Amino acid sequence: MSDAKLDLNGEQYELPITVGSEGEVGIDISALRNQSGAITYDPGYGNTGSCASSITFIDGEKGILRYRGYPIEVLAESCRFTEVIYLLINGELPTETQYRGFRESLTRHSLIHEDMKKFFEGYAITAHPMAILSSMISVLSSYYPEGQDEAARELNIIRLLAKAKTIAAFSYKKSIGQPFVYPNNSLSYCENFLHMMFAVPAEAYEVPEVLDDALNLLLVLHADHEQNCSTSTVRMVGSSDANIFASISAGINALWGPLHGGANQKVIEMLERIRQDGSDYKKYVDMAKDKDSDFRLMGFGHRVYKNFDPRARLLKKSADKVLAQLGVTDPLLEIAKNLEEVALEDDYFVERKLYPNVDFYSGIIYRAMGIPTNMFTVMFALGRLPGWVAHWMEMRDDPKGKIHRPRQIYTGETERAFVPIESR
Ligand code: CMC
Repeated sequence: MSDAKLDLNGEQYELPITVGSEGEVGIDISALRNQSGAITYDPGYGNTGSCASSITFIDGEKGILRYRGYPIEVLAESCRFTEVIYLLINGELPTETQYRGFRESLTRHSLIHEDMKKFFEGYAITAHPMAILSSMISVLSSYYPEGQDEAARELNIIRLLAKAKTIAAFSYKKSIGQPFVYPNNSLSYCENFLHMMFAVPAEAYEVPEVLDDALNLLLVLHADHEQNCSTSTVRMVGSSDANIFASISAGINALWGPLHGGANQKVIEMLERIRQDGSDYKKYVDMAKDKDSDFRLMGFGHRVYKNFDPRARLLKKSADKVLAQLGVTDPLLEIAKNLEEVALEDDYFVERKLYPNVDFYSGIIYRAMGIPTNMFTVMFALGRLPGWVAHWMEMRDDPKGKIHRPRQIYTGETERAFVPIESR
């Protein structure tokens, strides 16, 4: 493909083209400022490729999502989450021997240092589990300093992946005042998390298969999503050579916002509000359209998907199945389906291509599993962890990598004279 041409103030500039493996075209403007003095302006980075990446491909128009080339539908149907973790961070699916070794190392590193339990005592009982998760992940760096070689780096990545679920489950136990339940090395990744969440020392607990499968699906569907807000944050922070724990902790905080991963909690709060208000769907759809109101349909719309979110489709199907298997009837599922129907027939949502996203149905499944609403975004973080790690590693290993440092268009005052305080 020939270079792009830019005509600026009567001068012509040639801008090289870079083409991805799925035919995506990028205009390389990295030399533009040096050549012309101009920068590009793209608030929210909606049209900016910040890196080249071989991890995840999304075609938002066609509703395609693939990790390392494998369609999300196939992985969701056939893979355990630990296989997906391996795939994302190593680039290939594991052989049986590799998988056994990988699972084993994730299991062996599940315990957190006993001293870390003391930190939990300091959090208020009302602390949001996302605050606990992000700070405790950061604290891991004080126990496991960054190593100088490849093996030390890999070990810290395994520690992070293994211990995050323990920290997440401990944050829940702290919030309900129950003693922590330690990981059990005979259990799989998902089973272990559910065991640490729901077992109580006084009673025997066996993880129900339906919960194990539901959690596995949810984690697989959340495992990566290319350059979203939290992943870009992990890359941004990591680009300063910050350690893996600090970088991931920053990503967790970025995920917390209600426009990103925090939406799953907000969806349930919205559905509950609609239920208490007599299920008047049209009223809420009208409120979401009203530009004078700051109300939005949570779990609707996406920066990239403009047709459907394949993860939402899979979760909608799964919600029916999981609730039936658990024998749970949740009025919020019916409300969600009706709200979706009313919104999708409304011109406002049709014209703007706003569809349910991954957060719309995930909360209903978490609720049925017994996971409390304020833990939903923690669940998203556990799922997204391997994606963040894969991007951090790719960014660190990129020979063209440099510290992320965008420019700006300054719109403030031009130089002015200082006036002493007594004369102002
Ligand atoms: N309800 C009502 N109107 C909406 C919504 C919504 N949920 N989402 C977008 N719009 C409107 C928006 O007001 C704008 O209208 P107009 O063109 O008249 O100004 C238009 O649609 C385009 O929206 P935008 O905010 O410019 O789009 P964006 O790409 O910047 O934002 C989004 C994407 C996901 C932040 C947004 O759709 C939203 O706020 N959704 C609700 C929160 C949510 O569900 N977030 C989870 C996203 S998926 C999980 C993840 O984070 O990965």
